[in-house]
Amino acid sequence: MAIISTLLGFELHAVLEACLFAVGLYAVASVLTFLYFASIHRFKVPGPTFVQPLVGGLVTMIRDPFKFWEDQRLFSPNGYSWHSIFSQFTVFATKADLCQRIFAVNGENSLTLALHPNGKIILGNDNIAFQSGERHKALRASFMALFTNKALSLYLPIQERLAHEYIADWSKRFPHGGKPEEMRSYIRDLNCETSQEVFLGRHLHNRKKFTENYNNMTEGFLSAPIYFPGTALYKAVQSRKLVIHDLEEAVERSKQYMAQPDAQPHCLLDFWTATISDLVREAKERGEEPPTFSDNERMADTMMDFLFASQDASTASLTMITATMAERPEILERVRAEQRTLRPNDEPLTYDLVQEMKFTRQCVLEQLRLYPPAPMVPMLAHAPFQIDENFTAPKGSLIIPSLVGSCREGFTNPDEYDPDRMGDARQEDRKFAKQFIPFGVGPHRCVGYNYAINHLTVYLALVAHHAEWKRTRTPNSDKIIYLPTLYPHDCLCTWKARGGNKQASA
Ligand code: HEM
Ligand SMILES: *[C@@H]1O[C@H](CO)[C@@H](O)[C@H](O)[C@H]1NC(C)=O
Ligand SMILES: *[C@@H]1O[C@H](CO)[C@@H](O)[C@H](O)[C@H]1NC(C)=O
Repeated sequence: MAIISTLLGFELHAVLEACLFAVGLYAVASVLTFLYFASIHRFKVPGPTFVQPLVGGLVTMIRDPFKFWEDQRLFSPNGYSWHSIFSQFTVFATKADLCQRIFAVNGENSLTLALHPNGKIILGNDNIAFQSGERHKALRASFMALFTNKALSLYLPIQERLAHEYIADWSKRFPHGGKPEEMRSYIRDLNCETSQEVFLGRHLHNRKKFTENYNNMTEGFLSAPIYFPGTALYKAVQSRKLVIHDLEEAVERSKQYMAQPDAQPHCLLDFWTATISDLVREAKERGEEPPTFSDNERMADTMMDFLFASQDASTASLTMITATMAERPEILERVRAEQRTLRPNDEPLTYDLVQEMKFTRQCVLEQLRLYPPAPMVPMLAHAPFQIDENFTAPKGSLIIPSLVGSCREGFTNPDEYDPDRMGDARQEDRKFAKQFIPFGVGPHRCVGYNYAINHLTVYLALVAHHAEWKRTRTPNSDKIIYLPTLYPHDCLCTWKARGGNKQASA
């Protein structure tokens, strides 16, 4: 007995000492962390009074990122505040004019996009979002023909056909009276298939394999940054090679197709191929090198950037619209009334018809304003960045403009979903154009913004006119989650097909 208690006593003592040591170490680390950040913000910038050593706000952020950034936003009366993410000094900018200034600056010597570490590994260093300067400008200029009225008109029947197919499928699989289904991944499938078809059309072969590999890439994106055979990141990198291979083949097919006399573009890639072949020819005539982005491999990379860029934000806003409308029968009825007026015989969509869907579009714009699907665009400062006359963020800071903050500035009752604010009478989208930036602003502004708005409008128009859906509420239904685009916490629905006007008159 005596031996045991001596042993226990000894062990207790050691454990107690170790605990005291750890507490002491943590206290010292906390004080050092406090002093380190105080030396940067000099108490001129609002921010937390205590941050965890090393990890900073990361632990709280991972638990509920949307709430974390919302707390931070509401805590920034001057339009900016500080925090620490992984010991990196971070400035969160919530005021529109500061966001504008941040977005306007871009380059290797100022600010560049800072993504999750897996981002560069999977998307490649040369992704359009990481580029800057003349090369980036020239690449963007080559997209001009991809989003004209003519091009958007060509994409419409594809969007329409797929929306009909998916709505019919949901009505069959998740009927009223049955078990409600979480819609997020089904909406994502609709959106991915639409992007593939609109961007690459029949030039993309092996659809099934392609989609599987593409999905592996998506999964790797937010997985642990561990590259080792078997990890999600490893799988993503292997899959990327196969995806790029398939896209290179699609690019080659598009080049051959568009080289035929009188060939008409049949997908977004064809429009781009036509521009690229003009650029290559003009360069040749001037005796210059063709643009770096014109070879098959670089074009394939860019098509992948398009697929990625068109995926998350669009899926998030489609899901948001589905959830929002299920809860607002009077607004949904106004969308339906507009459809009845514009398409008395369920006419197929045309570009002009979609332009006339004013109220439907207002609902879409208001959804993008209230919850900008990409709520922030983190940037790394490669040089000191002046925030205002009183404060300059040092080199190495993370600078994060908040699109949520900007999109709620100035608007009347900014936290309310109110599509009428976007109408002809109030025109808040124009009045607050500087604040209304769900697609960013400046040199990297979303290149697909008019296609995206069209896509959301078409979806809402079709789903309202041709389907009825009911959302099952949970205690969390009003919460928002960050994935890292903004989704409703849940969107559990059942569906029923509706014949549009044909049904109403039958
Ligand atoms: C609701 C849907 C969408 C939203 C909210 C959205 C939002 C954004 C935002 C905030 C940026 C970054 C802007 C910046 O850094 O200044 C961006 C970039 C981009 N988006 Fe979108 N986007 C959407 C859909 C699309 C679609 C459908 C496409 C393709 C057709 C697309 C293509 C791109 C590309 C290529 C970039 C990179 C531009 C560059 O770095 O120069 N996006 N988008
Ligand atoms: C992609 O994921 C699927 C399903 O987990 C797997 O069968 C396939 O081997 C993966 N592809 C690659 C290239 O890792
Ligand atoms: C800078 O600090 C001064 C003194 O505290 C204050 O009066 C002024 O409003 C500040 N400027 C800005 C842009 O916040």
